Amino acid sequence: MEYGYPKGHIFYRKLGRIYPLITHGEGVYLYDEKGKRYIDGSGGALVVNIGHGQKEILQSMADQMGKVGYVHGTQFTTQSIEEYSEALGEILPNGLEKIYFLSGGSEAVEAAIKLARQYYLESGQTQRWRVVARWQSYHGNTLGALSLTGRVGARRPYLPLLIDFPHFPPPYCYRCPFGFTYPECELECAKALEKVIQMEGPETISAVILEPIIGATIGAVVPPDGYLSSIKNTCEHYGILFIDDEVMTGMGRTGKWFAVEHWSVSPDIMVLGKGMSGGYFPLSAMITKTEMVDLLKERTGGFVHGHSFSHHPVACAVGLATLQFMKERNLVEQCARRGEYLLKRLEKLKAFPFVGDVRGKGLMTAIEFVKDQKTKEPFPRTDKFTERMIDLAFENGLVLYPGTGFIDGVNGDTVMVGPPLIIEEAQIDEIIDILEKTFSKMGR
Ligand SMILES: Cc1ncc(COP(=O)(O)O)c(C=O)c1O
Repeated sequence: MEYGYPKGHIFYRKLGRIYPLITHGEGVYLYDEKGKRYIDGSGGALVVNIGHGQKEILQSMADQMGKVGYVHGTQFTTQSIEEYSEALGEILPNGLEKIYFLSGGSEAVEAAIKLARQYYLESGQTQRWRVVARWQSYHGNTLGALSLTGRVGARRPYLPLLIDFPHFPPPYCYRCPFGFTYPECELECAKALEKVIQMEGPETISAVILEPIIGATIGAVVPPDGYLSSIKNTCEHYGILFIDDEVMTGMGRTGKWFAVEHWSVSPDIMVLGKGMSGGYFPLSAMITKTEMVDLLKERTGGFVHGHSFSHHPVACAVGLATLQFMKERNLVEQCARRGEYLLKRLEKLKAFPFVGDVRGKGLMTAIEFVKDQKTKEPFPRTDKFTERMIDLAFENGLVLYPGTGFIDGVNGDTVMVGPPLIIEEAQIDEIIDILEKTFSKMGR
């Protein structure tokens, strides 16, 4: 039997695709009903941080459901919510203390936009409502989050529905938006934020949001040293909040619990998702400072926001079990070590003429493909290089996460390699073997 549109009643995510039916997962592997094994080289969309089929997580979920499956966040709390918030509180960057639990990354971003707005309303700075974001960024697909997202292909069909939030260029050193080279550039890309703020009117800006390491849109772009602290200084100078979007980078993915810790920068608001639950249950969070929540309590009495599934008891039980799983196995330290190994092995793939750049931190890495390594000329989008490559790798039993169109809204080819943090070196070798096998067939 084949699965895919238009058979049955499912409105599938990709309407032109035949879907393998996965029967089970174990560690870094997925198995379909025909017995084919896939190595989950991207953990879905860099979600599966602790691997598939972990029995502790199943048990935590069953235990909580056995006690109570649901209570409403305005009416009750549960032990799972209380305990998870304590455990998460222990690993948060300094100053971040109050956690608002939600179900997905986009939801957490929406909550951050609204918190920034309500905070300034309560502070008497009522003109501040606009959030500045970057081009080639991803913050989610709901309308508020999409208004921040700088992925033009995702925005284009919905432009009339989007909020007028300003954008500035990313620190994409491989193709510097200003044509400079680090460090001679003197971080022109960070200075661009100040220009946008001045042009738009600092008194209208509530916050700046960014991914500390750029995720799927360009693929694991690590900012140069000094970049994030420069952004943070600009925010402080203009009295603007700094929202750290760690939906992809957070919870150990880059070899630290949170990516901002690589540069010792303190956010005012942080959003998490994906790896929090390792994919076992929808879970995300918007986290902020006590003083900001105190102000809401004093003035309006609360955050004017909420969903049916905020502060979900089962989600929090899964979050807690995932966090314990990671701590018991020192997965964050292991991720840093395995990440170095992965990057070293990926570097060798530059022997293929179409591998332009290899980058990343921890187990968040990416390969950018080019038609010409020297000139960095991209493949024409009509070649669908990434799509063909991903399909071939999939056929060969390797799952990767694609990104296209990031250079100019049309061209640009990248894939992310971001396996579960439990991955062994031998399994990284397996990923590289499949990539080599796949790459050697490309273009033929
Ligand atoms: C950095 C970042 N922010 C927000 C989101 C949106 O999260 P979700 O897909 O869970 O809504 C994503 C998802 O890929 C992301 O990578």
